[in-house]
Amino acid sequence: MDKILVHGGNSLAGSIKISGSKNSALPILAATLLTREPCTIHRVPDLSDTNYMLQILNHLGAQVERASGTVTVSADKAQSVAPYEVVRKMRASVCVLGPLLGRCKEATVSLPGGCIIGDRPIDLHLKGFEALGAAVRVEGGNVKVFAPKLNGAVINLRGKFGPTVLGTDNVMMAAVLAEGTTVIEGAAQEPEVCDLADFLNKMGAKIEGAGTRRMIIEGVSELHGAEHDIIPDRIEAGTFLVAGAIAGKGVTVNRVNPDHLTAITTALSGCGFKIETKKQSLTVLPNGAPKPLEITTEPYPGFPTDMQAQMCALLSTTEGISVITENIFPQRYMHVAELKRMGAQVQMEGATAVISGVERLTGAPVMASDLRASAALVLAGLKAEGTTEVSRVYHIDRGYEHLDEKLSELGANIERVQA
Ligand code: EPU
Repeated sequence: MDKILVHGGNSLAGSIKISGSKNSALPILAATLLTREPCTIHRVPDLSDTNYMLQILNHLGAQVERASGTVTVSADKAQSVAPYEVVRKMRASVCVLGPLLGRCKEATVSLPGGCIIGDRPIDLHLKGFEALGAAVRVEGGNVKVFAPKLNGAVINLRGKFGPTVLGTDNVMMAAVLAEGTTVIEGAAQEPEVCDLADFLNKMGAKIEGAGTRRMIIEGVSELHGAEHDIIPDRIEAGTFLVAGAIAGKGVTVNRVNPDHLTAITTALSGCGFKIETKKQSLTVLPNGAPKPLEITTEPYPGFPTDMQAQMCALLSTTEGISVITENIFPQRYMHVAELKRMGAQVQMEGATAVISGVERLTGAPVMASDLRASAALVLAGLKAEGTTEVSRVYHIDRGYEHLDEKLSELGANIERVQA
């Protein structure tokens, strides 16, 4: 198992190119199951999560070809059962349920277990399928959804913690082939949901309102092949901007959509950093002593939960008292114990972290627990005194394309070693 060693103290400067979005690519790849015709998807990031999704598609009968960032999927045949061995590695495998239900009118997928960032139920996905007329059965660790026919319906997908991203995706993917009109109230507004809706519309679906709380889907009888470019990964971009804030003298992320990053750039400006915005790039520059901040994670366009851990790393070395409240996954704080081992001073009060910034962290062996927590530990290591040894790097490889190489391009002293 690889480890990442970060030798702290180097300043970062320069620019890097942001990859296609993981959280767009996963449901979009799943959506290719909705047609017999080939679909070509560009800018699919080379990550273990996207590779798992391609393996799942393959298992379900699709032919998959990959040439660097371009993936072609031909799901001439699609079988409707995705067993545990195939889906257990990735919770997002659940997003094949919607397209399989839409196309085959039945789907059996092994239920995702809990995960380190929380319980992660799929009750809202299932509620949506039921509203479309499907029966849901949970047995033997699998969830089976089936319907002789899907009918459009009015569905409210808002749950206790707000809208659901993959739930909105799943219900949308089933509803595109339902008879009649489906209205999703309380829909997730994330750019990744819009990207999926754009792709589905290219395939012949009739979806309106993506990016708002109310989506209207006019069912069609079949979809056709399409070609699509995945949007830039706003969380990867945000992670590099925070790296630039922690240890940079001017870091630019290229090939981004600055509109998708407003909550993150607003937070960094709130800390006192200077942000320069161009059409497809953002630069973070130091601008005097950084200031502490209060942040609350919220559904898009609010501050993303997927950037909470990285901000926690930044605020740990920002003088003064900062407060972070996690509203989406209240237990998503596995990085805190590890940051404390590096000298961070964080006090937890329920889902709120109260951070007293310290002048300097010190390198330590730390354990990655999930994707974003792992990235946060690497970022903390950039400014720490000495070497930070991040183990369980496979978490990082799930969602960051060459994180260590890109940081190294910016001047970080970072290496990947085999443990
Ligand atoms: N929820 C329910 N019932 C459901 C579904 C969700 O109660 O049926 C709750 C969740 O437990 C959570 C909240 O609703 O409290 C929001 O969860 P959501 O369903 O939106 O999460 P997701 O769709 O499973 C996606 C991303 C996550 C990201 C969240 C929130 C993908 C593949 N995953 O997950 O990304 O944190 O939305 O924005 O798109 C990551 O990339 O590191 C990551 C975890």
